[in-house]
Amino acid sequence: MGDYRLIDSGYFKKYEQIGGYRVIRPSAQAVWRSNRDPSTWEADAEFTRGSFGDGKWEFRNKIPASWMIQIHGISAIIRLTDFGHIGIFPEHHSWFAMQGAIEKQLAKDKPFRLLNLFAYTGTVTLGASQGGAHVVHVDASKTSVAWARENAEASSLGDKPIRWIVDDVQKFVQREIKRGSKYQGIVLDPPSYGRGAKGEIWKIEDHLIPLMDDLAQLFDDDFGFLQLSAHSQGYTPIAIQNILASYLGSRGGSFSSMEMTVQDETMRHLPSGACAQWFL
Ligand SMILES: C[S@@+](CC[C@H](N)C(=O)[O-])C[C@H]1O[C@@H](n2cnc3c(N)ncnc32)[C@H](O)[C@@H]1O
Repeated sequence: MGDYRLIDSGYFKKYEQIGGYRVIRPSAQAVWRSNRDPSTWEADAEFTRGSFGDGKWEFRNKIPASWMIQIHGISAIIRLTDFGHIGIFPEHHSWFAMQGAIEKQLAKDKPFRLLNLFAYTGTVTLGASQGGAHVVHVDASKTSVAWARENAEASSLGDKPIRWIVDDVQKFVQREIKRGSKYQGIVLDPPSYGRGAKGEIWKIEDHLIPLMDDLAQLFDDDFGFLQLSAHSQGYTPIAIQNILASYLGSRGGSFSSMEMTVQDETMRHLPSGACAQWFL
């Protein structure tokens, strides 16, 4: 997968190659034995979590503040954040269904408008933009949206039709309904818990269904793609597909649902959340 590789995993940790650097991070899903003894993992940095959900990076070698990698034709800037994130979620980097839906619409000489919610540093936005979509990218974090714009510049997509919005997803969607906006595709990757741009609370169990009710009002007549992914307990592939089916079941089309994974060098899959897609 471009310059990203999962080298090994096990004992609740994962060992990753990200461009020229290797890191170890916690992974609650890596409940097995690693292929190699973790004491032989030669990482440049390791992130460990404290008992209060906090954490810290321990550096064994010098690492730059940021560096660039290539992943599916996108340039992504990597930074080791205080939360133990790196700026990409490799499990999200399968864009075939989304790009297929975009292609279908463009072949009819019609534009494809994609709404990307909880859009983080924008790799999915850039995958869609590369496929020819007009994208509205929404995230509550100014830092993440600025990072996404840097990724767009680095990927030579800085001049493409992408609207960058720092806002609470729920408020933005309600405004879009009032404006009468319509979309051909929607992608959303809601966290279990989050905060909007003005501190608005997001709890997946309380707010996802009301958000989906609102999103259904943004479907255009030629709406062709919806992807919902989650990393929260209870949100299994089938559960997520059931959510999509209750809004899209009557439109025909196909559903697919899958456990998202990242494969290591021995083809072992590290579970990394669940996803369902609907496409015409
Ligand atoms: C799990 S990440 C999304 C990962 C992304 N889809 C990817 O693959 O790169 C969750 C994102 O949701 C954003 N977020 C959380 N609550 C939000 C809210 N109420 N409104 C808008 N964005 C929110 C966070 O700032 C964060 O960037």
